[in-house]
Amino acid sequence: MSNLKEQVGIKAAEFVTDGMVVGLGTGSTAYYFVQEIGRRVKEEGLQIVGVTTSHATAEQAASLGIPLKNIDDVESVDLTVDGADEVDSQFNGIKGGGAALLMEKVVAVNSKDCIWIVDESKVVETLGAFKLPVEVVQYGSENLFRLFETKGYRPSFRITNGKKHVTDMQNFIIDLDLGRIEDARALSDELDHTVGVVEHGLFIGLISKVIVGRPEGPQILEKN
Ligand code: 5RP
Repeated sequence: MSNLKEQVGIKAAEFVTDGMVVGLGTGSTAYYFVQEIGRRVKEEGLQIVGVTTSHATAEQAASLGIPLKNIDDVESVDLTVDGADEVDSQFNGIKGGGAALLMEKVVAVNSKDCIWIVDESKVVETLGAFKLPVEVVQYGSENLFRLFETKGYRPSFRITNGKKHVTDMQNFIIDLDLGRIEDARALSDELDHTVGVVEHGLFIGLISKVIVGRPEGPQILEKN
């Protein structure tokens, strides 16, 4: 299969079984997972309920006839499959390239198990080459921006069609150009305690498996 994203999306769908509540991720890799779940629902009669991580995924899943529930209407999610922008050997990573990090993290923390699907270009030794997305409330966001500047985080507002990008949850995104994150847990804690930050794209300790798309076939990495 030439498309590595499609390869891992289809592979991840093998971990989905009847009766599960499934978290459906967002992005161009998770897209293929959702397509495959839709195919299995239609052609194999797979019985699942999906919980989505963005408006875009909700639209895709609904168009495929996947039964959906709101995150608040399920006790927990059995398995979430999502993409990522970077992942390191500890299975920590950066998400939010598609600006859906808040809903993605809410679904992830409510999940018993999470799998990330990535092509091999996303596997890194140290996080930070990908700009870290931080979702912030609109009120006071310019001051927050200046705070990040003084800390040397080289912030930029995410722009869409010439305007500050507004997320599905009505917030802005500030991307931090950190280059190299020496201590992801410490940075995560710091951002968790910064007023005005709603959520950030560092996902620490939430993932049990990473499926990496490689030309020779998908590689399944399990947390030991
Ligand atoms: C969206 C995300 C995506 O999962 C992440 O950006 C990876 O996207 P893609 O599979 O398109 O490379 O976090 O907020």
